[in-house]
Amino acid sequence: MKIGVIGTGYVGLVTAVGLADLGHDVIGTDVVAEKIELASKGKSHIYEPGLENLLQANLKKGNLSFSVDLDKAIRISDVLFVCVNTPPRDDGSADMSYVEGVSRRIAENLDDYKLVVEKSTVPVKTSSWIKRTISLYRKKNVDFDVASNPEFLREGTAVHDFLNPDRVIIGVETDKARELMLKIYAKFNDKILVTNIETAEVIKHASNSFLAMKISFINLISDLCEKTDADIEQVAKGMGHDPRIGSQFLRAGLGYGGSCFPKDVRALIKIGEDLGIDFNLLKQVDLINIKRTNVFIEKVRKALWILKEKKIAILGLSFKPQTDDIRNAPSIKIIENLLCEGAVLNLYDPQAMDNMKEIFPEDPPRINYMNSAYDAVNGVNATLIVTEWDEFKEIDLGELKRIMANPIIVDGRNIFKPDIVKESGFEYYSIGR
Ligand code: UDX
Ligand code: UDX
Repeated sequence: MKIGVIGTGYVGLVTAVGLADLGHDVIGTDVVAEKIELASKGKSHIYEPGLENLLQANLKKGNLSFSVDLDKAIRISDVLFVCVNTPPRDDGSADMSYVEGVSRRIAENLDDYKLVVEKSTVPVKTSSWIKRTISLYRKKNVDFDVASNPEFLREGTAVHDFLNPDRVIIGVETDKARELMLKIYAKFNDKILVTNIETAEVIKHASNSFLAMKISFINLISDLCEKTDADIEQVAKGMGHDPRIGSQFLRAGLGYGGSCFPKDVRALIKIGEDLGIDFNLLKQVDLINIKRTNVFIEKVRKALWILKEKKIAILGLSFKPQTDDIRNAPSIKIIENLLCEGAVLNLYDPQAMDNMKEIFPEDPPRINYMNSAYDAVNGVNATLIVTEWDEFKEIDLGELKRIMANPIIVDGRNIFKPDIVKESGFEYYSIGR
């Protein structure tokens, strides 16, 4: 079976490499030639642990290739995984123009049966639009099917997640499509749930929105803890021991970022609106999340009073650790706010600085990108923890205190134990405790 993966971004590249690793013959394609050139040489355009090793191993085996030639990739493939982006529009709905464009190209090149698999997160009922588009634009009256196979990969652990899925959702409407999909994922036989296409589409939006809801809930509870003598870390632990609640996704902090949660919550609100269902619940989830950066900035103000001319180190720019991705990262709003108030910023992240320079170019003395966490904190009035990279958790507090101008830490991710930081001589502000 030959599989074409259309769009080799964060999701598509991992999917292409993962499917090749399962033993399939895979061709990855993208409109950005640079991504294809890099991938062909065994290099990933994104930082994702384990991805380059697996990419190189499968290129060597000979069953993985990359090309910018979309028409060829479509013609030679039996199954096409659509992994192009579905960015949010101003009203929250997903912009489906890339999915439509790809559907038309598939139609124009349809010369034999093909199974078209939606991998991108799409609104429920998208499959009928894809089907209609292919039927309208196909040049030959050739048979095809559409399936939905939502991805649940978390950036930073995407390779592990692909190879060890907790579930594989397959939405199909014909036996032929079902058989092909079961064959592709035969290795994960016991993890497969087959549904109709609409159900699979809803599972994706519902899962991401539910997880976002959990995060906003715990963040709201952290505000309550802060105004009382409760400790959010203990509260989350106490709640998480109940298997009906579960301990994951109860970390309070700066709120959720990334390319999925903010976009998917808003998309589901809009889908509901269009169908006459009021997702007020999710509107609150979104609002609580938006306010997280204000809550954080207030803490910085409380610590420093006037921010103008204050020298501040920001440790962590990516939206979560183990990735270079800054899409919807809380750091962006924090930097904007602090610059607005006239602060001087030393920025450091182990992987995401190049991406951040595209939004905030290096501009000394106000915006400085530093080579290490220690360089960043040297001489500053306060250090802000914005992403919980392991190297920040392991920082030498004694050295930190020695080189900072004022011993003040504002921790948006609760990476330190308050007693230990305070014993080391710091003024310490964290979340919900
Ligand atoms: C994207 C969506 O944002 C997400 O909702 C979905 O679940 C999976 O796809 P991601 O992989 O993170 O997620 O996006 P991105 O890194 O932007 O990758 C999309 C890729 O498709 C890019 O490399 C882009 O160049 C490529 N693309 C886009 C095409 O090859 N053709 C197009 O017509 C449009
Ligand atoms: C998410 C989903 O987890 C994945 O299944 C989906 O397919 C794509 O979107 P991702 O966005 O890569 O994955 O990262 P995730 O680990 O889910 O974190 C999302 C955001 O939530 C991050 O900004 C993270 O910092 C935040 N988060 C997560 C919290 O604030 N608290 C938590 O307890 C967990």
